[in-house]
Amino acid sequence: MSVFDEIRRQLDIVEVISEYLPLKRVGNSYATRCPFHPDGTPSFYVSPSRQIWKCFGCGKGGDVIKFVAEYENISYLEAAKLLAERFNLEVDFGTEEAEGKYYTALRKINEYYREELLKSDEAKHFLLKERKFSPSIVRDFSLGFAGNGYGSVDFAKREGIFEELLQLKHFYRTSFGKYRDFFHERVTIPIRNSLSKVVAFGGRSLKGELPKYKNSPNSEIFQKEKSLFGIDRAKDYLRDKNFLILVEGYFDVIRLHSVGFGNSVAPLGTSLTIHHARLVSKLTQRVILLFDGDSAGRKAIVEASKRLLKFPLDIYVVTLPPGEDPDSFVLKEGVRGLRKLLGDAKPLEKLLIEAFLKAPPAKRDSYLQIYRDLVREISDPVKAELWQREFRDKTGLQLFGKRKFIPIKRVEPPSNLSPQEIDFLLGLLYLQERVDLNSVNLSPEARKIAEEILRGDGKEKLPKWLLEMDTLGLEKRFKAAKDILAVDKPLMEETFKKLLHLEEKVKRGEATPEELDSFRRMLSALSEGERRLYQKFKERFKPDSGGL
Ligand code: CTP
Ligand code: MN
Repeated sequence: MSVFDEIRRQLDIVEVISEYLPLKRVGNSYATRCPFHPDGTPSFYVSPSRQIWKCFGCGKGGDVIKFVAEYENISYLEAAKLLAERFNLEVDFGTEEAEGKYYTALRKINEYYREELLKSDEAKHFLLKERKFSPSIVRDFSLGFAGNGYGSVDFAKREGIFEELLQLKHFYRTSFGKYRDFFHERVTIPIRNSLSKVVAFGGRSLKGELPKYKNSPNSEIFQKEKSLFGIDRAKDYLRDKNFLILVEGYFDVIRLHSVGFGNSVAPLGTSLTIHHARLVSKLTQRVILLFDGDSAGRKAIVEASKRLLKFPLDIYVVTLPPGEDPDSFVLKEGVRGLRKLLGDAKPLEKLLIEAFLKAPPAKRDSYLQIYRDLVREISDPVKAELWQREFRDKTGLQLFGKRKFIPIKRVEPPSNLSPQEIDFLLGLLYLQERVDLNSVNLSPEARKIAEEILRGDGKEKLPKWLLEMDTLGLEKRFKAAKDILAVDKPLMEETFKKLLHLEEKVKRGEATPEELDSFRRMLSALSEGERRLYQKFKERFKPDSGGL
């Protein structure tokens, strides 16, 4: 049995996922809104019988370890270790150390770079004098210097980490057939994952060589489009600051951190991806975008916002003076200037409306278009309507014309019905499909309504909210609901056999107190639909069981 099997065996997936997400029982499974994509209705399912999870919205799924890996944005092995530690499991990771070797290799080479920095006047001059970072912040971020790119190769060979670093493409082969460090002659910036392990490096050229920055290639343990520089620290700082600052560069993060704003992160030279946005939404509800004050910066704000609006995040924007980035701004204006700037952060929609109003008539159209594009990206219909209202109230203009006003769903279904039950009922009502109600798990309330619909006595007897629910994409919703609510037949047969066996014993008065107890528990765990199925099951088995 592998260490992963062992962990899966010792854990209950429902228990673990419950620590992350509010799970609600739906038939034999549990459901909630998916944390991995913008999810209006719960499409994330956990099956206790199969010990797996699956999102019917985005298609992600897997075992308990995979969940933690996805959620924490760490590798499978790391997730396994995290679980083993958190739940005090007795497991041996002895044979699964491939990833561990990479971490060790990167940690060691990072130490080497730090030593090299101390030896290089040029690199020290760049960081301490030119960029004006303090020795303590250089130490804190463990910045280093890769040297000529041959010394680190020798070091790696001596330390037995050469193969690992080669696999990570940290070394490359020159045209002379020698190995050399990918980051030679560059200041090294270790990139850490959310567990603070070094997973990659950024390298800044010293004297204007191009490209100015290099990043480690993607690998088993590092994906650029999912990583945020500073995430390991921001996590801690967010405990006392309730917003996250999003900036564009490594040195911006380091600078902000050095003046007490450790709640800052930056993507690694890519624009903000949907993965980043998800990560951010897990950490906070408020993001301040602190991007360059130029037109590229403004474009970046719009692009980043498109991703961020897919999640329940409030976006604030700070405008830097032209030509400044957060790093240079803090150097000039100090932490007081920065505090003032952050204090003036404006909600994105307000800023855009102001820009629209201030713009000369010829330019207004482009602002209108940006605003429209952003509203279309908002996943929360209430927020989308608020944005439209705000625009209309301030400008007197209807964003989409009257008819396309995206409405808020005003009907609130009773909370004791799950979204799948509601979709199922709507499907029964509008799609005219006959469904055997015993093949689905329904709560007694839902079942009553379903029977009413199937009786077909007209709509008067049906609850009013049901008739007012929106039916957009109902066919798909109905199909998904049927799948999800479907009674797990093979599994139920097993359960029923056990139940029947116990029931017979109980009736004959032969059951031990434990058996009686487990009979009661099993019976009470059945849903309404399952109970009916059990009755049918018993009828089928009656002849053989001697006329029970
Ligand atoms: N970047 C990159 N590759 C480049 C240039 C930039 O990956 N060739 C990434 C780096 O993560 C960098 C960020 O984009 O931190 C911002 O780049 P830029 O705005 O060019 O950074 P500057 O502020 O100009 O860099 P510095 O402060 O080091 O001069
Ligand atoms: Mn800069």
